[in-house]
Amino acid sequence: GAGWPGLIEAYRERVEIPDGARVVTLQEGNTPLVPAPHLSELTGSTVYLKVEGANPTGSFKDRGMTVAMTHSLAKGSKAVICASTGNTSASAAAYAARAGLVSAVLVPQGKIALGKLAQAVVHGAKILQVQGNFDDCLELARKTAAEHPVTLVNSVNPVRIEGQKTASFEICDVLGRAPDVHCLPVGNAGNITAYWKGYAEYGDDGLIEKLPRMFGFQAAGAAPLVHGQPVTEPETVATAIRVGSPASWESAVKAKDASNGLFSAVTDEQILSAYRTLASREGVFVEPASASSVAGLLATAADGTLPAGSTVVCTVTGNGLKDPDTALSGMVEVEPLPVDPSAVASALELR
Ligand code: F0G
Repeated sequence: GAGWPGLIEAYRERVEIPDGARVVTLQEGNTPLVPAPHLSELTGSTVYLKVEGANPTGSFKDRGMTVAMTHSLAKGSKAVICASTGNTSASAAAYAARAGLVSAVLVPQGKIALGKLAQAVVHGAKILQVQGNFDDCLELARKTAAEHPVTLVNSVNPVRIEGQKTASFEICDVLGRAPDVHCLPVGNAGNITAYWKGYAEYGDDGLIEKLPRMFGFQAAGAAPLVHGQPVTEPETVATAIRVGSPASWESAVKAKDASNGLFSAVTDEQILSAYRTLASREGVFVEPASASSVAGLLATAADGTLPAGSTVVCTVTGNGLKDPDTALSGMVEVEPLPVDPSAVASALELR
């Protein structure tokens, strides 16, 4: 084989697929666990970033999609459908293309980042923009899948969680233990469910001694789990987690409670500040939703909720290139220079 085989092969005993199934893979997983020295200094803890933007389509969704698409193909589906704030649709479109299946994606009109839309377009998905939010899209996708011969590949499909739990395995395999605290952005709440399942499985098999505390962070304008009730009109700059009624609500609460963890809200200002810190101090470019795990890390370190000296992993869920508009919104326009070395030197204030 050619190196890393993708997570189904890598964790064959832990990720079930049907006998004889053709594995649909783009060699997802095995993402870097990058030490974050600046964040470690700011928090007095040892902080690592699980950089999920390094997956084939630029987000953690690929972990679930390799498994979902492998199952869909094995059971003879011809088409898959999903609702998405953008990353699930990008991943579904790519893996469906790989599998030779038709993909249909339902996205909230005008509320998905440009790069994600570009991915769905170029992979040939049937893109349906809906006059509603993600929660409306998910309801439509569920109803369509219930009544028509198309397979739903949102994380309400349990095989998605089976793929996504492998991120916890990778972290423990690298650290030789679980972190004390794991920080995650939370939207539809599939991923926190998946990470907790992964850690719990390693714990049950004696591969780690202690399980981490799960810290889940939501955007303040879209924080149903923090408030304990659905949000009818979720709003945040972090469009990926603009979710008002998370499908995996109960399992997310279970992960939080069983791990002595917490849910907390971070404002758009905190998210964008963490986004810039990650890019300018750690060299890691993530999309805004991903920065909410780091915004939460900084807030809990500042108020003492996070014990100093902890070993912490923050998952940064998606690549910054997904959302060029947010990145460029901070750009200052400057006049183009003439082709002249002295103009460059003076523009850079080199003398
Ligand atoms: N971060 C990013 C970049 C995401 O795209 C998502 C979810 C999350 C975090 C939250 O994960 O939903 O499992 O709690 N994106 C979904 C989508 C909703 O449609 O792409 P979650």
